[in-house]
Amino acid sequence: MVLLTGGLGYIGSHTAVELLKAGYEVVIIDNLSNSKEIVKEKIEQISGKKVKFYKGDVRDYELLEKIVKENEIDSIMHFAGYKAVGESVKEPLKYYDNNIFSTLALIRLMQEHKIKNLVFSSSATVYGRAESMPIYEDFPVSATNPYGRTKLFIEEILKDMYVADNSLNIAILRYFNPIGAHESGLIGEDPNGIPNNLMPYITKVATGKLEKLSIFGNDYNTKDGTGVRDYIHVCDLALGHVKALKKLETNSGLVVYNLGTGTGYSVLEMVNTFNEVCGNKVKFVFAPRRDGDVDMCYASPEKAERELGFKATHTLKQMCESSYNFEMKNKE
Ligand code: NAD
Ligand code: UD1
Repeated sequence: MVLLTGGLGYIGSHTAVELLKAGYEVVIIDNLSNSKEIVKEKIEQISGKKVKFYKGDVRDYELLEKIVKENEIDSIMHFAGYKAVGESVKEPLKYYDNNIFSTLALIRLMQEHKIKNLVFSSSATVYGRAESMPIYEDFPVSATNPYGRTKLFIEEILKDMYVADNSLNIAILRYFNPIGAHESGLIGEDPNGIPNNLMPYITKVATGKLEKLSIFGNDYNTKDGTGVRDYIHVCDLALGHVKALKKLETNSGLVVYNLGTGTGYSVLEMVNTFNEVCGNKVKFVFAPRRDGDVDMCYASPEKAERELGFKATHTLKQMCESSYNFEMKNKE
Protein backbone atom coordinates (compact mmCIF):
# COMPACT_ATOMS: atom_id res chain seq x y z
CA MET A 1 0.00 0.00 0.00
CA VAL A 2 1.17 3.50 -0.79
CA LEU A 3 0.56 6.40 1.58
CA LEU A 4 0.12 9.71 -0.26
CA THR A 5 0.52 12.81 1.88
CA GLY A 6 -1.28 15.74 0.29
CA GLY A 7 -2.96 13.20 -1.98
CA LEU A 8 -6.05 15.34 -2.56
CA GLY A 9 -3.97 18.19 -4.00
CA TYR A 10 -3.19 18.87 -7.64
CA ILE A 11 -0.27 16.50 -8.28
CA GLY A 12 -1.20 13.99 -5.55
CA SER A 13 -4.70 13.40 -6.93
CA HIS A 14 -3.44 12.72 -10.46
CA THR A 15 -0.77 10.43 -9.05
CA ALA A 16 -3.38 8.56 -7.00
CA VAL A 17 -5.27 7.85 -10.23
CA GLU A 18 -2.14 6.51 -11.97
CA LEU A 19 -1.15 4.37 -8.97
CA LEU A 20 -4.64 2.83 -8.79
CA LYS A 21 -4.50 2.20 -12.54
CA ALA A 22 -1.17 0.43 -12.06
CA GLY A 23 -2.72 -1.83 -9.41
CA TYR A 24 -1.46 -0.19 -6.21
CA GLU A 25 -3.66 0.40 -3.19
CA VAL A 26 -3.73 4.01 -2.05
CA VAL A 27 -4.17 5.67 1.35
CA ILE A 28 -4.34 9.45 1.55
CA ILE A 29 -3.67 11.89 4.37
CA ASP A 30 -4.54 15.52 3.70
CA ASN A 31 -5.50 18.40 5.98
CA LEU A 32 -7.48 20.10 3.18
CA SER A 33 -5.49 23.32 3.60
CA ASN A 34 -5.35 23.58 -0.20
CA SER A 35 -7.82 20.96 -1.42
CA LYS A 36 -11.34 19.65 -0.99
CA GLU A 37 -12.66 16.35 0.31
CA ILE A 38 -14.75 15.83 -2.85
CA VAL A 39 -11.49 15.11 -4.73
CA LYS A 40 -11.41 11.69 -3.03
CA GLU A 41 -14.71 10.80 -4.73
CA LYS A 42 -13.46 12.11 -8.05
CA ILE A 43 -10.37 9.90 -7.80
CA GLU A 44 -12.64 6.93 -7.07
CA GLN A 45 -14.96 7.86 -9.94
CA ILE A 46 -12.11 8.02 -12.44
CA SER A 47 -10.37 4.86 -11.27
CA GLY A 48 -13.38 2.76 -10.29
CA LYS A 49 -11.46 1.87 -7.12
CA LYS A 50 -11.73 2.79 -3.46
CA VAL A 51 -9.31 5.06 -1.67
CA LYS A 52 -8.88 5.33 2.08
CA PHE A 53 -8.75 8.91 3.34
CA TYR A 54 -7.59 10.36 6.65
CA LYS A 55 -8.34 14.02 7.22
CA GLY A 56 -5.48 15.43 9.26
CA ASP A 57 -2.03 16.93 9.40
CA VAL A 58 1.16 15.09 8.51
CA ARG A 59 2.81 16.76 11.51
CA ASP A 60 0.37 14.87 13.77
CA TYR A 61 2.54 11.88 14.65
CA GLU A 62 -0.22 10.05 16.52
CA LEU A 63 -2.36 10.15 13.42
CA LEU A 64 0.53 8.82 11.31
CA GLU A 65 0.92 5.90 13.75
CA LYS A 66 -2.80 5.19 13.54
CA ILE A 67 -2.61 5.10 9.75
CA VAL A 68 0.31 2.70 9.81
CA LYS A 69 -1.45 0.44 12.32
CA GLU A 70 -4.60 0.32 10.23
CA ASN A 71 -2.90 -0.16 6.85
CA GLU A 72 0.05 -2.08 5.51
CA ILE A 73 2.05 0.84 4.22
CA ASP A 74 5.24 -0.10 2.38
CA SER A 75 5.84 3.13 0.47
CA ILE A 76 5.21 6.83 1.00
CA MET A 77 4.82 9.63 -1.55
CA HIS A 78 5.21 12.97 0.16
CA PHE A 79 3.34 15.75 -1.67
CA ALA A 80 2.03 17.65 1.35
CA GLY A 81 3.45 21.11 1.82
CA TYR A 82 2.99 24.76 1.01
CA LYS A 83 4.20 25.96 -2.37
CA ALA A 84 3.58 29.68 -2.93
CA VAL A 85 6.91 31.43 -3.38
CA GLY A 86 5.67 34.97 -2.64
CA GLU A 87 3.85 33.91 0.50
CA SER A 88 6.94 32.06 1.71
CA VAL A 89 8.92 35.30 1.63
CA LYS A 90 6.28 37.02 3.79
CA GLU A 91 5.65 34.09 6.13
CA PRO A 92 8.80 31.96 6.23
CA LEU A 93 7.94 30.27 9.53
CA LYS A 94 4.71 28.90 8.05
CA TYR A 95 6.78 27.28 5.29
CA TYR A 96 9.60 25.94 7.45
CA ASP A 97 7.13 24.59 9.97
CA ASN A 98 4.88 22.80 7.51
CA ASN A 99 7.35 21.60 4.91
CA ILE A 100 10.19 20.60 7.22
CA PHE A 101 8.27 19.24 10.21
CA SER A 102 5.93 17.18 8.06
CA THR A 103 8.96 15.56 6.43
CA LEU A 104 10.65 14.90 9.78
CA ALA A 105 7.49 13.25 11.11
CA LEU A 106 7.40 10.97 8.08
CA ILE A 107 11.06 10.04 8.40
CA ARG A 108 10.52 9.14 12.04
CA LEU A 109 7.53 7.05 11.04
CA MET A 110 9.62 5.27 8.42
CA GLN A 111 12.33 4.52 10.95
CA GLU A 112 10.00 3.25 13.63
CA HIS A 113 7.88 1.14 11.32
CA LYS A 114 10.58 -0.02 8.92
CA ILE A 115 9.00 1.61 5.88
CA LYS A 116 11.74 1.73 3.26
CA ASN A 117 10.44 3.58 0.21
CA LEU A 118 9.91 7.32 -0.06
CA VAL A 119 9.17 9.51 -3.07
CA PHE A 120 9.63 13.21 -2.38
CA SER A 121 8.17 16.16 -4.33
CA SER A 122 11.09 18.47 -4.94
CA SER A 123 11.24 21.24 -7.51
CA ALA A 124 13.31 22.70 -10.30
CA THR A 125 13.54 25.70 -8.01
CA VAL A 126 16.54 23.99 -6.34
CA TYR A 127 18.63 24.79 -9.43
CA GLY A 128 18.32 28.54 -8.75
CA ARG A 129 19.86 30.43 -11.67
CA ALA A 130 21.37 27.61 -13.69
CA GLU A 131 24.43 28.55 -15.75
CA SER A 132 23.34 26.71 -18.87
CA MET A 133 20.41 24.82 -20.39
CA PRO A 134 19.21 22.12 -20.30
CA ILE A 135 19.51 21.45 -16.58
CA TYR A 136 21.07 18.14 -15.52
CA GLU A 137 20.59 16.55 -12.11
CA ASP A 138 24.22 17.11 -11.13
CA PHE A 139 24.03 20.90 -11.57
CA PRO A 140 24.75 22.93 -8.42
CA VAL A 141 21.75 23.63 -6.21
CA SER A 142 20.77 26.81 -4.38
CA ALA A 143 17.70 28.69 -3.26
CA THR A 144 16.46 32.25 -3.55
CA ASN A 145 13.42 32.14 -1.25
CA PRO A 146 12.13 30.27 1.83
CA TYR A 147 9.96 27.90 -0.22
CA GLY A 148 12.94 26.87 -2.33
CA ARG A 149 15.07 26.55 0.80
CA THR A 150 12.60 24.09 2.33
CA LYS A 151 13.02 21.88 -0.75
CA LEU A 152 16.79 22.21 -0.61
CA PHE A 153 16.96 21.45 3.13
CA ILE A 154 14.64 18.47 2.80
CA GLU A 155 16.79 17.07 -0.02
CA GLU A 156 19.84 17.39 2.29
CA ILE A 157 17.99 15.79 5.21
CA LEU A 158 17.00 12.86 3.01
CA LYS A 159 20.59 12.42 1.83
CA ASP A 160 21.76 12.33 5.48
CA MET A 161 19.11 9.74 6.31
CA TYR A 162 20.31 7.60 3.44
CA VAL A 163 23.96 7.84 4.52
CA ALA A 164 22.92 6.66 7.97
CA ASP A 165 20.72 3.86 6.62
CA ASN A 166 21.54 2.39 3.22
CA SER A 167 18.52 0.14 3.29
CA LEU A 168 16.30 3.14 2.52
CA ASN A 169 15.11 3.79 -1.03
CA ILE A 170 14.44 7.44 -1.69
CA ALA A 171 13.46 9.14 -4.94
CA ILE A 172 13.86 12.90 -5.05
CA LEU A 173 11.76 14.11 -8.00
CA ARG A 174 12.47 17.62 -9.23
CA TYR A 175 9.36 18.77 -11.05
CA PHE A 176 9.55 21.42 -13.71
CA ASN A 177 6.24 23.23 -14.45
CA PRO A 178 3.24 20.93 -14.10
CA ILE A 179 0.10 22.08 -15.94
CA GLY A 180 -2.99 20.44 -17.46
CA ALA A 181 -5.60 18.22 -15.91
CA HIS A 182 -7.03 14.73 -16.15
CA GLU A 183 -8.91 14.21 -19.43
CA SER A 184 -12.16 13.57 -17.55
CA GLY A 185 -12.15 17.17 -16.32
CA LEU A 186 -12.96 15.83 -12.85
CA ILE A 187 -9.64 16.73 -11.20
CA GLY A 188 -7.22 19.54 -11.96
CA GLU A 189 -5.52 22.56 -10.49
CA ASP A 190 -7.85 24.63 -8.37
CA PRO A 191 -5.85 27.24 -6.46
CA ASN A 192 -7.45 29.46 -3.83
CA GLY A 193 -7.59 33.19 -4.60
CA ILE A 194 -5.79 34.90 -7.47
CA PRO A 195 -3.30 32.46 -9.03
CA ASN A 196 0.43 33.23 -9.02
CA ASN A 197 1.34 30.76 -11.71
CA LEU A 198 0.91 31.20 -15.42
CA MET A 199 -1.49 28.43 -16.48
CA PRO A 200 -4.10 28.87 -13.73
CA TYR A 201 -4.03 32.59 -14.45
CA ILE A 202 -4.53 32.04 -18.19
CA THR A 203 -7.48 29.68 -17.63
CA LYS A 204 -9.19 32.23 -15.38
CA VAL A 205 -8.78 34.93 -18.02
CA ALA A 206 -10.18 32.54 -20.66
CA THR A 207 -13.32 31.94 -18.59
CA GLY A 208 -13.79 35.62 -17.80
CA LYS A 209 -12.98 35.43 -14.09
CA LEU A 210 -9.94 37.64 -14.54
CA GLU A 211 -9.70 40.44 -17.05
CA LYS A 212 -6.27 40.05 -18.60
CA LEU A 213 -2.93 38.41 -18.14
CA SER A 214 0.15 40.46 -17.32
CA ILE A 215 3.18 38.98 -19.06
CA PHE A 216 6.06 39.60 -16.71
CA GLY A 217 8.88 40.90 -18.91
CA ASN A 218 9.38 40.95 -22.69
CA ASP A 219 13.07 41.78 -22.66
CA TYR A 220 14.51 38.46 -21.54
CA ASN A 221 17.28 36.83 -23.49
CA THR A 222 14.89 34.30 -25.07
CA LYS A 223 13.35 33.59 -28.49
CA ASP A 224 10.63 36.27 -28.14
CA GLY A 225 11.75 38.12 -25.01
CA THR A 226 9.30 36.39 -22.65
CA GLY A 227 10.27 33.80 -20.01
CA VAL A 228 10.83 30.20 -21.09
CA ARG A 229 9.80 27.18 -18.97
CA ASP A 230 9.48 23.41 -19.25
CA TYR A 231 5.73 22.74 -18.93
CA ILE A 232 4.83 19.12 -18.26
CA HIS A 233 1.36 17.56 -18.30
CA VAL A 234 0.37 16.57 -14.76
CA CYS A 235 -0.69 13.11 -16.00
CA ASP A 236 2.79 12.55 -17.43
CA LEU A 237 4.23 13.73 -14.12
CA ALA A 238 1.93 11.32 -12.27
CA LEU A 239 3.18 8.45 -14.42
CA GLY A 240 6.73 9.48 -13.52
CA HIS A 241 5.84 8.76 -9.87
CA VAL A 242 4.69 5.25 -10.68
CA LYS A 243 7.95 4.65 -12.57
CA ALA A 244 9.96 6.09 -9.67
CA LEU A 245 8.18 3.81 -7.22
CA LYS A 246 8.95 0.80 -9.41
CA LYS A 247 12.58 1.87 -9.37
CA LEU A 248 12.58 2.04 -5.56
CA GLU A 249 11.15 -1.46 -5.46
CA THR A 250 14.37 -2.69 -7.07
CA ASN A 251 16.30 -1.41 -4.01
CA SER A 252 17.67 1.56 -5.85
CA GLY A 253 18.98 3.50 -2.84
CA LEU A 254 18.74 7.27 -3.13
CA VAL A 255 18.00 8.56 -6.63
CA VAL A 256 17.36 12.04 -8.05
CA TYR A 257 15.42 12.73 -11.24
CA ASN A 258 14.23 15.74 -13.20
CA LEU A 259 10.65 15.35 -14.32
CA GLY A 260 10.25 17.60 -17.33
CA THR A 261 9.86 17.33 -21.09
CA GLY A 262 13.16 18.88 -22.15
CA THR A 263 11.36 21.50 -24.25
CA GLY A 264 11.09 25.14 -23.24
CA TYR A 265 8.09 27.25 -24.26
CA SER A 266 7.85 31.03 -23.85
CA VAL A 267 4.96 32.82 -22.17
CA LEU A 268 3.85 34.12 -25.58
CA GLU A 269 3.87 30.61 -27.03
CA MET A 270 1.75 29.47 -24.10
CA VAL A 271 -0.76 32.27 -24.63
CA ASN A 272 -0.91 31.69 -28.38
CA THR A 273 -1.45 27.95 -28.04
CA PHE A 274 -4.08 28.50 -25.38
CA ASN A 275 -5.83 31.02 -27.61
CA GLU A 276 -5.96 28.45 -30.43
CA VAL A 277 -7.72 26.10 -28.05
CA CYS A 278 -10.18 28.51 -26.44
CA GLY A 279 -10.93 30.86 -29.36
CA ASN A 280 -8.80 33.91 -28.56
CA LYS A 281 -10.21 34.70 -25.15
CA VAL A 282 -6.89 35.41 -23.45
CA LYS A 283 -6.07 39.11 -23.53
CA PHE A 284 -2.70 40.21 -22.23
CA VAL A 285 -0.48 43.19 -21.57
CA PHE A 286 3.26 43.34 -21.08
CA ALA A 287 4.29 44.23 -17.53
CA PRO A 288 7.64 44.59 -15.74
CA ARG A 289 9.66 41.49 -14.86
CA ARG A 290 8.63 39.64 -11.69
CA ASP A 291 11.25 39.68 -8.92
CA GLY A 292 13.29 36.53 -8.75
CA ASP A 293 12.29 35.16 -12.19
CA VAL A 294 14.90 33.57 -14.43
CA ASP A 295 14.85 33.94 -18.21
CA MET A 296 14.94 30.22 -18.99
CA CYS A 297 14.45 26.95 -17.15
CA TYR A 298 14.15 23.58 -18.83
CA ALA A 299 15.18 20.06 -17.96
CA SER A 300 17.36 17.45 -19.41
CA PRO A 301 14.87 14.57 -19.18
CA GLU A 302 17.56 12.04 -20.24
CA LYS A 303 18.29 10.47 -16.87
CA ALA A 304 14.63 9.77 -16.10
CA GLU A 305 14.21 8.30 -19.58
CA ARG A 306 17.32 6.14 -19.31
CA GLU A 307 16.82 4.88 -15.76
CA LEU A 308 13.05 4.97 -15.30
CA GLY A 309 11.85 4.54 -18.86
CA PHE A 310 9.94 7.78 -18.33
CA LYS A 311 9.07 10.08 -21.21
CA ALA A 312 6.42 12.78 -21.24
CA THR A 313 4.11 12.32 -24.22
CA HIS A 314 1.48 15.07 -24.09
CA THR A 315 1.85 18.00 -26.49
CA LEU A 316 1.54 21.63 -25.45
CA LYS A 317 -1.83 21.79 -27.20
CA GLN A 318 -3.09 18.79 -25.22
CA MET A 319 -1.89 20.42 -22.01
CA CYS A 320 -3.78 23.62 -22.84
CA GLU A 321 -6.90 21.71 -23.91
CA SER A 322 -7.04 19.72 -20.69
CA SER A 323 -6.49 22.83 -18.52
CA TYR A 324 -9.28 24.61 -20.39
CA ASN A 325 -11.59 21.60 -20.20
CA PHE A 326 -11.14 21.40 -16.42
CA GLU A 327 -11.72 25.11 -15.97
CA MET A 328 -14.89 25.06 -18.12
CA LYS A 329 -16.30 22.08 -16.22
CA ASN A 330 -15.53 23.62 -12.83
CA LYS A 331 -16.25 27.29 -13.42
CA GLU A 332 -18.40 27.59 -10.33
P1 NAD B 1 -1.27 21.28 -3.71
O1 NAD B 1 -1.32 22.43 -2.77
O2 NAD B 1 -2.35 21.17 -4.73
O3 NAD B 1 -1.22 19.92 -2.89
C1 NAD B 1 -0.65 19.81 -1.61
C2 NAD B 1 -1.67 19.10 -0.72
O4 NAD B 1 -1.10 18.93 0.57
C3 NAD B 1 -2.96 19.89 -0.52
O5 NAD B 1 -4.06 19.04 -0.75
C4 NAD B 1 -2.92 20.35 0.93
O6 NAD B 1 -4.21 20.41 1.50
C5 NAD B 1 -2.06 19.28 1.56
N1 NAD B 1 -1.28 19.66 2.74
C6 NAD B 1 -0.44 20.72 2.89
N2 NAD B 1 0.16 20.69 4.10
C7 NAD B 1 -0.32 19.58 4.73
C8 NAD B 1 -0.06 18.97 5.99
N3 NAD B 1 0.78 19.51 6.88
N4 NAD B 1 -0.71 17.83 6.30
C9 NAD B 1 -1.59 17.27 5.43
N5 NAD B 1 -1.84 17.78 4.22
C10 NAD B 1 -1.22 18.92 3.87
O7 NAD B 1 0.16 21.31 -4.40
P2 NAD B 1 0.70 20.47 -5.64
O8 NAD B 1 0.85 21.40 -6.79
O9 NAD B 1 -0.06 19.23 -5.80
O10 NAD B 1 2.18 20.16 -5.14
C11 NAD B 1 2.52 18.97 -4.48
C12 NAD B 1 3.96 19.01 -4.06
O11 NAD B 1 4.77 19.21 -5.20
C13 NAD B 1 4.31 20.14 -3.09
O12 NAD B 1 5.25 19.66 -2.16
C14 NAD B 1 4.94 21.19 -3.98
O13 NAD B 1 5.87 21.99 -3.29
C15 NAD B 1 5.64 20.32 -5.00
N6 NAD B 1 5.85 21.00 -6.28
C16 NAD B 1 4.77 21.54 -6.94
C17 NAD B 1 4.98 22.21 -8.14
C18 NAD B 1 3.83 22.85 -8.87
O14 NAD B 1 4.09 23.69 -9.74
N7 NAD B 1 2.58 22.52 -8.62
C19 NAD B 1 6.27 22.32 -8.67
C20 NAD B 1 7.32 21.73 -7.99
C21 NAD B 1 7.10 21.08 -6.79
C1 UD1 C 1 7.12 28.55 -10.28
C2 UD1 C 1 7.64 28.77 -8.89
C3 UD1 C 1 8.88 27.94 -8.67
C4 UD1 C 1 8.64 26.48 -9.03
C5 UD1 C 1 8.22 26.42 -10.48
C6 UD1 C 1 8.01 25.01 -10.95
C7 UD1 C 1 6.98 31.08 -8.45
C8 UD1 C 1 7.45 32.51 -8.34
N1 UD1 C 1 7.92 30.17 -8.74
O1 UD1 C 1 8.03 29.21 -11.11
O2 UD1 C 1 9.29 28.01 -7.33
O3 UD1 C 1 9.83 25.74 -8.88
O4 UD1 C 1 7.00 27.17 -10.61
O5 UD1 C 1 6.82 24.54 -10.54
O6 UD1 C 1 5.81 30.78 -8.24
N2 UD1 C 1 4.16 34.60 -15.79
C9 UD1 C 1 3.58 35.72 -16.36
N3 UD1 C 1 2.41 36.18 -15.83
C10 UD1 C 1 1.79 35.58 -14.77
C11 UD1 C 1 2.40 34.43 -14.19
C12 UD1 C 1 3.59 33.97 -14.73
O7 UD1 C 1 4.10 36.27 -17.31
O8 UD1 C 1 0.73 36.07 -14.32
C13 UD1 C 1 5.41 34.06 -16.38
C14 UD1 C 1 6.59 34.03 -15.43
O9 UD1 C 1 7.28 35.24 -15.44
C15 UD1 C 1 7.39 32.87 -16.00
C16 UD1 C 1 6.32 31.92 -16.57
O10 UD1 C 1 5.16 32.74 -16.76
O11 UD1 C 1 8.21 33.28 -17.05
C17 UD1 C 1 5.96 30.78 -15.64
O12 UD1 C 1 5.64 31.29 -14.36
P1 UD1 C 1 5.06 30.37 -13.18
O13 UD1 C 1 3.93 29.57 -13.68
O14 UD1 C 1 4.81 31.25 -12.00
O15 UD1 C 1 6.25 29.35 -12.90
P2 UD1 C 1 7.79 29.63 -12.56
O16 UD1 C 1 8.12 31.04 -12.60
O17 UD1 C 1 8.59 28.74 -13.44
